[in-house]
Order: sequence, then structure tokens, then C-alpha cells
Amino acid sequence: MSIDVARARAETPGTAHVVHLNNAGSALPPQPVTEAVFAHLALEEEIGGYEAAARNAGGVERTYAAVARLLGCGTDEVALVESATVAWALAFQTLEFQPGDRILTGTAEYASNVIAFLQAARRSGAEIEVIPDDADGQTDVMALDAMIDGRVKLIALTHIPTNGGLVNPAASVGGIARMHGIPYLLDACQAAGQMPLDVNELGCDFLTATGRKFLRGPRGTGFLYVRRERLEGMEPRVLDLHGATLAGPDRYEPRPDARRFEYWESNVAARIGLGVAVDYALDWGLEAIRERVWSLGGWLRTLLDAVPGVTLRDLGAERCGIVTFTLDGVDPDAVKAAVGAKGFNVSVSRASSTRFDMDARGLAAVVRASPHYYNTEAELELFAEAVAALAP
Ligand SMILES: Cc1ncc(COP(=O)(O)O)c(C=O)c1O
Repeated sequence: MSIDVARARAETPGTAHVVHLNNAGSALPPQPVTEAVFAHLALEEEIGGYEAAARNAGGVERTYAAVARLLGCGTDEVALVESATVAWALAFQTLEFQPGDRILTGTAEYASNVIAFLQAARRSGAEIEVIPDDADGQTDVMALDAMIDGRVKLIALTHIPTNGGLVNPAASVGGIARMHGIPYLLDACQAAGQMPLDVNELGCDFLTATGRKFLRGPRGTGFLYVRRERLEGMEPRVLDLHGATLAGPDRYEPRPDARRFEYWESNVAARIGLGVAVDYALDWGLEAIRERVWSLGGWLRTLLDAVPGVTLRDLGAERCGIVTFTLDGVDPDAVKAAVGAKGFNVSVSRASSTRFDMDARGLAAVVRASPHYYNTEAELELFAEAVAALAP
């Protein structure tokens, strides 16, 4: 089934105001999401925060069910948190490393994850090793296989990086992780809402994502998936009275499910909105979304490739909806500002966000244009014209 773009736009008020090509940053939310958030805030105003949460408890439960449907997992394997970074850090911090342990990661790994590896390495003496890329610029699965030994204690991969069209072979990596029983932490922040995700096909033990990007949820939302078999004995660094019960004066018991990674206080309206966003994406269908987003990405590459002075910067055999490029003689920030003045929202992805990859390619920054299914081919054509007009 293909996407009804006219309906998608009618349900996305922002499309009347901007050409939003910053969905890898934070997408335009659809009306049902903002309505759900506003409605809960109005109820809080009317009857009080705790009382509103009690009345809308079903709305929050629905979010766990929606995320579980999105990922093909159980509701007991989902924790709702504030962002992809929080989800990722909560999972990573439960892992213990000894001197000489190896953490394997990809060249496209997100900077916050790498900072956490460096902290862990400094504290524990673990070593960080970057899996080489294959000729297409994606994680080389054969090279990974050859790197495995008894000292590998974690494989951590970014599925789709923040800085380009690359789609890493996350399921093949998962196959290797599972074969060797090595914990596998998948950063699916840019993949969630852009393509189908199934944790059993991916073979990951932990998956992290955010609400505001391709899922079109509220800001300040994210989720963590933890495989049931891994939950046993896994304790977050900090537990509160929501994640655990104080069973006696000197004894606590963590919750049996993934909600042990949550804390008591939360933005209930945003959590409800996240569930609506996930269900909204599921209603369109993740296959249909992928088809449209990736085909818009391909069309934008074709258009930009024809602009004199533009160099496309995307890697990978299969490319997603995130399009990155540079324009000869024009700083990426100047490109962003100039097209922004004409109503096009894009962003700039810097080396500091994906250091291994950008340094290896000698790139300081790239312009990032990331369409969603509600964008039109005509918008992309106007955008390419706006970029062409900037060429010195
Ligand atoms: C690949 C990747 N991982 C993680 C993050 C962090 O997400 P959040 O800002 O929701 O913590 C981003 C954000 O751009 C990202 O692109």
C-alpha cells in the first residue's frame, strides 16, 4: 500500500508553513499526536497531574503496547524514557567491563555512545575497537566475524547514522552476536519510524530510539528495548521506587520487567503522545513509509547530483531518506541559513557527532536534508533549485 500524501499533509499542519527537510532532527508531528498531548495537558490543568495520569492510565499503557508492536517484542521488554541517549546510557551502564575486554563498534557510531565507551574504557581498562567498513562504507560483517574472540564483551552498532544515507547491516551483525552470545546494543534512533524494525530479525539484546525523529512523536520521549533473557540479573545503575520495591529496611527487589529502567516521574502527556505517534506510523505501515522515504531520498540525491558544485556524502549499498552533501565554496552553515530564509528546514551534521567516519573522510560538516513521507517531489525540486542558486 502506498502513502496517501495529500492525507498525510492534511494531517500535518506544519506542511502549510515550511518545507521540513529536518526529519532526522525532529519531524513535524501529525495532528493526532499534538491533540493527544494538548488534551492531557488540559486535563492536568482541570483536575491535577496525578488525577489526570490516573484517568489516562490506559493512554500510557497503550504506548508500551504500540512500541512492542513496532519492534515485535513483549510489552514487558519496553521501558519509556526521555530520549534515545537516556535509553542507550541506561542499557550500557548495566554492563561491567574488565581490563582487556573488547567493545566492538562501527565507524558511524554516534558521538554520545563513543563518549560512553571512552568513559568505560578509562574506568575499566576495556578496549574500544572500530569494525572496518566494506567497500560500500557499511559495517563489514566478515571483518566483524574475524574480530570475535572470548574478550569481546559488547557489540554496539548505530543502525542508521545521524550524518547520511547509510543503513548498516544490523541483522547480519545480530546473527554474529547471537552465534557467540555477545550482548548486542543497537542504536536505532534514526531507523525507528523510517523502516520496519523487528528485534528478533535484528538479533539485538538492546535497542534504543527516540520519539521526535522519524516516528513524529513529541520531544523528550524515547524508549529502550531489553530482551527478556537479558533482563534477569540486569540492574540499572540507579533504581528508584518505581524500578524496584523496598521490600524490607535492608532489601529491595527490582521490577521483573524492563520498566526497572524507568523512574517514577515522567511527562505523561508526552508519553501518551508517543504512543499515538507509534500507532499512527503503524497505521501507515512501516514498509510503505520506508518505500516512500527512501524513494524521496533517492530523488533528492538525483536532483542534487545535477547541481554544479554539490558533492553527495552518503555511504552504503542501500540508502535511506537522510541525504547529506557539501557545496563547493559555501560553508554548510551558510547553506542552511540561506535555504532556511526561503522556508526550507535542513540541518548541519558536524564531525563531532560521528568522529570516526567524518575524520576518516576528511569532512568537518555536511548539510543534511532528510525528507519524510509527507514531503512532496515538488518540494524537493524547489529545494534543489534553492541550493543551485547558492553556487558561487
Ligand atoms: C544515531 C543517533 N543516535 C542517538 C541520537 C540521540 O538521540 P536523542 O537526542 O534522542 O538522545 C541521535 C540524535 O541525533 C542519532 O542520530
